Amino acid sequence: MRPALSDYQHLASGKVRELYRVDDETLLFVASDRISAYDYILDSQIPDKGRILTAMSVFFFDLIDAPNHLAGPPDDERIPAEVLGRAMVVQQLDMLPVEAVARGYLTGSGLLDYQKTGTVCGIALPPGLVEASKFSEPLFTPATKAELGQHDENISFDAVVELIGAERAEQLRERTLRIYVQGAEHALGKGIILADTKFEFGVDKDGDLRLADEVFTPDSSRYWRADDWKEGVVQQSFDKQFVRNWLTGPDSGWDRGGDTPPPPLPPEVVDATRARYIEAYERISGLKFSDWIGA
Ligand SMILES: Nc1ncnc2c1ncn2[C@@H]1O[C@H](COP(=O)(O)OP(=O)(O)OP(=O)(O)O)[C@@H](O)[C@H]1O
Ligand SMILES: [Mg+2]
Repeated sequence: MRPALSDYQHLASGKVRELYRVDDETLLFVASDRISAYDYILDSQIPDKGRILTAMSVFFFDLIDAPNHLAGPPDDERIPAEVLGRAMVVQQLDMLPVEAVARGYLTGSGLLDYQKTGTVCGIALPPGLVEASKFSEPLFTPATKAELGQHDENISFDAVVELIGAERAEQLRERTLRIYVQGAEHALGKGIILADTKFEFGVDKDGDLRLADEVFTPDSSRYWRADDWKEGVVQQSFDKQFVRNWLTGPDSGWDRGGDTPPPPLPPEVVDATRARYIEAYERISGLKFSDWIGA
């Protein structure tokens, strides 16, 4: 008999996930169908999003050649039926206070930094780069973990050293870039560019670094179609960028600079977003989402 969710102590709510205690060393990590954009949790949910993100993370944890936080399979008996398919049993880690971002292409906050300073996170770049330019090699561009409602802030490598020490910082950079390259090469073989991504790492009780949280999901990464990639323009993407474009476009009526929250998404934006998340999962994994556990 599977336990009920109410059998576990609820520890924390993130923007997208709920954390529960399984035992002294183990957590239940449950993804909801919530979607966040521009640091707001939107009123609209994307049906099945929690299961898609979980399927995606499980696929990549399996593919990637690095220690991770999984403490059981996705159908583990400790997972309650009501969250089956959108939950993982994970080792509780001591999370590092840094967002480990890797970028293969210039866009988003990296582009803004570059336009202001010619650098991203203190890394000097050649002149003449534009939206969606590919870097000659991927960059480690760490950020602080902001509180709810705040923006993550890009920081220099030296600032990471101040936060976690030189040895751990070096290890974090090396691990981040290695995992990014491995995931991005896999995706490119499936016609998808993982333009950038954010990892979270934690330290286990033996002091070893482990990849935690979610991995290479459309929430944590920018997914572009490789066939359509073109320098100088904002790329059409599989991920949340679609929601962002609608929110900042003429139809939403939302004043992003003000302090009103974004409006709910119209049904066609919800449906299109869901379809994109599923398409991304199926293309990348080569699996059918209809075969994924839970319902
Ligand atoms: N193995 C782990 N042990 C302990 N905490 C973890 C582990 N893996 C992830 N976490 C933490 O769990 C939380 C996940 O929740 P969620 O993704 O909803 O939050 P968020 O990061 O605030 O939102 P967003 O991803 O939109 O920035 C994060 O705070 C993350 O650091
Ligand atoms: Mg998160």
